[in-house]
Amino acid sequence: MQQTGQQHAIVPREKLDFGLDGDIPKYWFAGDPFKTRFFDALSTLFPEGEKFFIVCVRDFSAGITDPQLAQEVRDFTRQEGQHGMVHTRFNTRLEEQGIKVQRLMERQKDVMFGVFRRLFSRRYTLALTAASEHMTAVMAHSFFERREILQDTDPRIRAMYAWHAIEEIEHKAVAFDVMQKVAKVGYFTRILAMLHVSWGMPLHTFIIMAHMFRVDGFSLGRRAGIWLRGLWWLYKPGGLYAPVLGHYFAYYKPGYHPWKAGQMRTYSSWTDTFERTGDPIAAGNALHAAGI
Ligand SMILES: [Fe+2]
Ligand SMILES: [Fe+2]
Repeated sequence: MQQTGQQHAIVPREKLDFGLDGDIPKYWFAGDPFKTRFFDALSTLFPEGEKFFIVCVRDFSAGITDPQLAQEVRDFTRQEGQHGMVHTRFNTRLEEQGIKVQRLMERQKDVMFGVFRRLFSRRYTLALTAASEHMTAVMAHSFFERREILQDTDPRIRAMYAWHAIEEIEHKAVAFDVMQKVAKVGYFTRILAMLHVSWGMPLHTFIIMAHMFRVDGFSLGRRAGIWLRGLWWLYKPGGLYAPVLGHYFAYYKPGYHPWKAGQMRTYSSWTDTFERTGDPIAAGNALHAAGI
């Protein structure tokens, strides 16, 4: 298959042990409720979200004639399946803290499978998948390109996100290629789906975080402070997202392809360390340390 940039191989990695059963502090991100619960909320979204992505890509499996793309879809499916399993294991920690993970997941399933897949066309739900994959690739960059972002975090959970980020980078073009080459989704649908995901994803994350803060027992005043400081951390100039806005907006260019934008400079620090040690925590530490 013709590629436009520097493509990485898609390597499904299974049975990785991040030591998530260990004694991990509740607020594992710098003791900070907002930063911790932001990542925890993402973790509750992944298992059902990734199932949805797999189903929406597989809708078009029968039409794939390129054997390389067919193999990439299989590897993408295996990677996303593993992500769902590891995040499910992590989410049992949240359940033990009183977070209604099962209820949150049921609600998410109702929206994606009960509403989206019932109301929208298969081509549109594939476009939603490709847009979400772009968002996860952008997040992968924002979490690991600058060392300061995930400074003072538990290395086990950081390693789980590092592995997930690396694999999101590896398979970032799969849904997009199926969308363009097989489903023949046009520019308008692609952009509409991106606008949909751009408000839907943060909205759902914030709704889940609001539930988590209530379970955590913070007073109204305390929660207001947590939100103000947290939203500033996310959106301030030089914050989590500002440096990757260019990468995000690249999706809106008519000739965009995932391999044309956003090469992850630090990618090989993870893969080299993992190949040498087989240890996903060491690889996560290496990826973090390689940040600027
Ligand atoms: Fe994933
Ligand atoms: Fe993905």
